[in-house]
Amino acid sequence: MLNFGRARTQARGTRNMPFSGMDYADPKRKGNFVGKVLLAAALTALCIIVLKQSPTFNSPSPFSIRETGVTHVLVTGGAGYIGSHAALRLLKESYRVTIVDNLSRGNIGAVRVLQELFPEPGRLQFICADLGDAKAVNKIFSENAFDAVMHFAAVAYVGESTLDPLKYYHNITSNTLVVLESMAAHGVKTLIYSSTCATYGEPEKMPITEETPQNPINPYGKAKKMAEDIILDFSKNSDMAVMILRYFNVIGSDPEGRLGEAPRPELREHGRISGACFDAARGIMNGLKVKGTDYKTPDGTCVRDYIDVTDLVDAHVKALQKAVPSKVGIYNVGTGKGRSVKEFVEACKKATGVDIKVDYLPRRPGDYAEVYSDPTKILRELNWTAQYTDLQKSLQVAWRWQKSHRDGYGSSQVMSS
Ligand SMILES: NC(=O)c1ccc[n+]([C@@H]2O[C@H](COP(=O)([O-])OP(=O)(O)OC[C@H]3O[C@@H](n4cnc5c(N)ncnc54)[C@H](O)[C@@H]3O)[C@@H](O)[C@H]2O)c1
Repeated sequence: MLNFGRARTQARGTRNMPFSGMDYADPKRKGNFVGKVLLAAALTALCIIVLKQSPTFNSPSPFSIRETGVTHVLVTGGAGYIGSHAALRLLKESYRVTIVDNLSRGNIGAVRVLQELFPEPGRLQFICADLGDAKAVNKIFSENAFDAVMHFAAVAYVGESTLDPLKYYHNITSNTLVVLESMAAHGVKTLIYSSTCATYGEPEKMPITEETPQNPINPYGKAKKMAEDIILDFSKNSDMAVMILRYFNVIGSDPEGRLGEAPRPELREHGRISGACFDAARGIMNGLKVKGTDYKTPDGTCVRDYIDVTDLVDAHVKALQKAVPSKVGIYNVGTGKGRSVKEFVEACKKATGVDIKVDYLPRRPGDYAEVYSDPTKILRELNWTAQYTDLQKSLQVAWRWQKSHRDGYGSSQVMSS
């Protein structure tokens, strides 16, 4: 918890209290010492009286009690890109939000933005904890009255997952088990799970429906599929309401410019296409490398389905509102329209106003030609459809944030370009 830091400082202060005078049997100092003890006792008593009279002394934290009409959502990974946007939307809709994040990849700056927007007591709390620490997670669940969990926290780079698969199975699969066990133990009845189109692997037929067989081809997709399987097996004998959302490629940022995507610089090499385009536009990278121009697609480059983060979090809120006890809903969250990498790069050039240098290289092993969703089911059952489908506009919004946050959440200086 953020205030853990404060508690630790206080404890250290207590340990350092100067008791050294007791080491000496100096009669001249004895009266002085008794006086000090009496003064300390009087001050302590005064503090207790003042504290007891304060309106918050006897009342428990609003996060620990269930309140009629208030839905308390635990947002894991809420300091990250998608989780912070989801937390913002939930807070705007009057949900009570607890963010749990270990800040391994997220930004405390994003949490601060949210705290500044929603400073009222009982709206937002941040707990810094690792979901791999089952004891800590269990403590969080025992001290807070959650109604629902949106489980975003994960490591989420396909390339990295092939280099360090165990990290992915641990962080995604094993940590989901920890969250699920705590939910079951503490009677939390609704789970919205962040899954991915990477669980489908290389489907033979496009578009991808929820019935498309899942044959993931990398540890990231496999770890997410295993987490889905655990959730599905558990839900067979549980009254938990479960929604599994399989996102396609997420882009964009808060249209009001408060939040953005700010991955750690060291993850740049594993990065996603929008980050790579922006880095090239800012001159951080020497142009953009497009791998593969001979795919069986209209312009030879890969085709993907880009979903704006504002639409994505809207799907989460709809999923939360329509979650039914003892039922599992599985939905693709995409636009249903594939865009080629070339199209994406052109949109990025227009959005940034920078004529990004592009190098066309041979194919990268493991990339598949086309991936796009069939979003019919989510429209039919949750009444959700993507609204922000203009690629250039989504990128323009994201670029505005990137330009004014040269060092991500580290600073907010306006870039000249
Ligand atoms: N971004 C995409 O295009 C995309 C596509 C499909 C699915 N997803 C899924 O969406 C979710 C969010 O992705 P994102 O792009 O916002 O990633 P992100 O890296 O920006 O956010 C993930 C957050 O989880 C936190 N986290 C990681 N491990 C943790 C742990 N052990 N304990 C506590 N916190 C931990 C990180 O610190 C970070 O703040 C992930 O589950 C990801 O797999 C993302």
